[in-house]
Amino acid sequence: MAKPKVLATRPLFPAAQEILNAVCEAQYWTKPERISKEELFKKIKDKEGLVCLLTEKVNLELLNAAPKLRIAANVAVGFDNIDVAACTKRGVVATNTPGVLDETTADFAWTLMMAVGRRLVEGDTLARSGTWKGWDLDQLVGTDVWGKTLGIVGFGRIGRAMARRALGFQMRVIYADAVRAPEAVEEELKAEYRGMASLLAESDFVSVHVPLLPETRGLFDAPRFSKMKPTAYLINTSRGAVVDEAALVHALESGKIAGAALDVFENEPFIHPGLKRPNVVLAPHIASASIETRTKMACMAAENVVAMFKGQRPPNMLNPEVLKAG
Ligand code: DGY
Repeated sequence: MAKPKVLATRPLFPAAQEILNAVCEAQYWTKPERISKEELFKKIKDKEGLVCLLTEKVNLELLNAAPKLRIAANVAVGFDNIDVAACTKRGVVATNTPGVLDETTADFAWTLMMAVGRRLVEGDTLARSGTWKGWDLDQLVGTDVWGKTLGIVGFGRIGRAMARRALGFQMRVIYADAVRAPEAVEEELKAEYRGMASLLAESDFVSVHVPLLPETRGLFDAPRFSKMKPTAYLINTSRGAVVDEAALVHALESGKIAGAALDVFENEPFIHPGLKRPNVVLAPHIASASIETRTKMACMAAENVVAMFKGQRPPNMLNPEVLKAG
């Protein structure tokens, strides 16, 4: 029997290719530049499966170009690039990669927090500049991270992984979430529940871990920045559009907050020029980019596709109702 045809918009990693190739006739986009919309629409025409990245939009337009598509497997936990409702309507299963990137992402959010608090990037620039005159008492003095108050916005798996790290730094942890965590979790992580306004007023570092949803888009706006301490820092490894970037730039320029460390941006790869300032640490959306985690993510996406074509339930379905109906 002919193997189902699948398009992967990147070569993936060898372990993931092995999983996919065992069951599917996979075509990989291997050119260094990203696949263009035109190429994607051309190549998807005869494909039953798609392994895609968060930079590709799986929307009605793509679905219209893909009459045979049965599954779209995102190599990411966030799936704001996928119109799940449109997929469901078309009977296309959509999947993501939850669980495997939590610790790695929390590691990176922690890295950003340390880097901005302790002025690591400014220090690196000075150390390389050839102008460093040696140790000085008030040179690049930052702020302590240990012992401070960490406000976690979004207390899911990644938010909780942040809280676990904070225990070792003797930080006070407060969190805000639409749903309060079970008492046992709060006790284990020594985390106290707060409303957003109190969290912003009390935190020295605010780390964001919410998905991008209509209700979280622009969550960090001018009124929210004005509630933060002038000595506080914003850390964002979730989605750029959770923060109103123009309002953030204004908050930084007017000293409403002390700084920010960002891995994600409102209109990637564009970065608001006002963010390119010494008290902002910038990273190009790499919070999950360890070889171990990216391999796991790619394998997970491949396993979702393979399960589908073996007649099994893909483990990470975003719209299980598609298969229930079938
Ligand atoms: C995700 O998985 O959603 C990240 O943003 C990419 O690792």
